[in-house]
Amino acid sequence: MVPRRCWIHHSVLVPALLMISAANRADNAPKPALLRLSDKLMEGYKKGVRPVLDWRQTTTVLIDVMVYAILGVDEKNQVLTTYIWYRQFWVDEFLKWNPKEYENVTQISIPTEKIWVPDILINEL
Ligand SMILES: *[C@@H]1O[C@H](CO)[C@@H](O)[C@H](O)[C@H]1NC(C)=O
Repeated sequence: MVPRRCWIHHSVLVPALLMISAANRADNAPKPALLRLSDKLMEGYKKGVRPVLDWRQTTTVLIDVMVYAILGVDEKNQVLTTYIWYRQFWVDEFLKWNPKEYENVTQISIPTEKIWVPDILINEL
């Protein structure tokens, strides 16, 4: 008789506690600044569209190439095999915000899979 009552108490208590903590979080705690900012930036973002406000504007991509290592030299065929790092810089006109509205956040990291990236392929240097 007694163990059975105990078991019922537990099964009622646990969901009630979970509901209270979920309600507290939604009502009192504001969303963290980075989460709010990320939501704002990604809302309606289309990674397939070049990020300019005026389509007549070009997007300038700066490329910075660094030879990190020489992996091989084939003198007979005149082939130099290298390992390079390259960085690309461009302006995405859709990814802007007022830092004052986001606890003075001035930088955010966003995975490249989520945003427009230049379609540039280096075949040969
Ligand atoms: C943001 O910066 C302004 C100016 O420096 C400062 O007055 C304000 O308290 C800062 N806000 C936060 C949330 O840090």
